[in-house]
Amino acid sequence: MKYLFKNALVVTMNQNMEVIRSCDVFVENGIISAVGMSGAKERCDAAVIDASGKLLMPGLINGHCHVPMTLMRNYADDMDLQTWLFDYIFPVEEKMSGEDIYWGSLLGIMEMIATGTTCFIDMYDHMNCIVKAVEESGIRAHLSRGVTNFEEGTDFSRHKGLNEAIDFYRRWNGAANGRITGAFAPHAIYTCTTEFIRAIIETAKRFNAPIHVHLDETRVEHEDCLKKYGKTPTRYLYDLGLFDQRTVAAHCVWITDEDIDLLAEKNVTIAHNPTSNLKLASGVAPVPRALNKGVNVILGTDGASSNNNLNMFEEIHLASLIQKGVNNDPLLIKAKTVMRMATTNGAAALGAKDLGIIEAGAKADLILVDLDKPHLMPLHNALSALVYSAQGSDVYMTMVDGRILYENGEFKTIDKEKVRYNIKKCCDRLFG
Ligand code: NI
Repeated sequence: MKYLFKNALVVTMNQNMEVIRSCDVFVENGIISAVGMSGAKERCDAAVIDASGKLLMPGLINGHCHVPMTLMRNYADDMDLQTWLFDYIFPVEEKMSGEDIYWGSLLGIMEMIATGTTCFIDMYDHMNCIVKAVEESGIRAHLSRGVTNFEEGTDFSRHKGLNEAIDFYRRWNGAANGRITGAFAPHAIYTCTTEFIRAIIETAKRFNAPIHVHLDETRVEHEDCLKKYGKTPTRYLYDLGLFDQRTVAAHCVWITDEDIDLLAEKNVTIAHNPTSNLKLASGVAPVPRALNKGVNVILGTDGASSNNNLNMFEEIHLASLIQKGVNNDPLLIKAKTVMRMATTNGAAALGAKDLGIIEAGAKADLILVDLDKPHLMPLHNALSALVYSAQGSDVYMTMVDGRILYENGEFKTIDKEKVRYNIKKCCDRLFG
């Protein structure tokens, strides 16, 4: 399928952060094949999308999520992380079936594509059911089977979670035309024994696979680690060799300056989740200091139970404002910096040069933002408009791999009514 976007205001996110007015973008076989050229003969067989009055930009990359947790949206709020996780979330997750995971995932994917996310980085359970939702919906995803282990021991050859993680990685990494990639995911240092983390690192090394982990999210995690091991969570994982694999570390709220140096040294990506950290009162991550030292920082929503939505435009907005506010410095996390965090930095975290950018040769993961909204007028500066004024609901169209998944309120690959019906059924069973 070929598409020609005509007359768009294009936010390229290329090296020079070019914003091009009245620009045409040509998409062919899932790839952007030309930017800024119009009228070429070979383009006459393309479906033309009139993008006048709209802004075309790379799709957003949600850097940390647990997509099926939409099922627990607005179920357990106004509590601290330990109570929320151990007393409310884990008991419901115990009861979740593959069916619940599948419908919860589809609901989360609907929400993401309707608010401009084209790729998400996720950690959860029942991976085959999440994969099914990703495959059917057409979204791009970097997935991992999150694993925990509370029992001492060194032989994990029969560990259910780890074996499922291995099966998942073998079977699905690179599947669906490369839309699905895999990682290994020790849930966190407080939900895995040291020996178990070692086993996961060994496994990831064996497959040359990346890692996705929660890191230094709360003061409790930080202080318990100091007490137990005499070092910070970052130093602890560094010493175990976890960061030798390409790693996305979610949260990093309590990291020290020395930790930042270690993360920079190992090219670890921090997935910053401002809403989730605020809601659980975990704190505010030292993102400006990490960026200053060259750490790759991306943005995530976290699960819908600690946010309580999967709308990346909210994270973009908040990530910029919160640092200015808590540091008394309006120059921190400028519009262009936060837009990088939501696009090209996400691509870098995945080791993908052809995502998060509009240029010839990049994957056609694109969104159109409707500029015909009172809160987007006048448009003095497109990047500022995206960060400080835009809403997720301004997204008009979402395309992944050259395929339109959402347009003008309509889901092209997901039956909204069916999802609504089944979500109710799942929730009646889980919470009834
Ligand atoms: Ni999380």
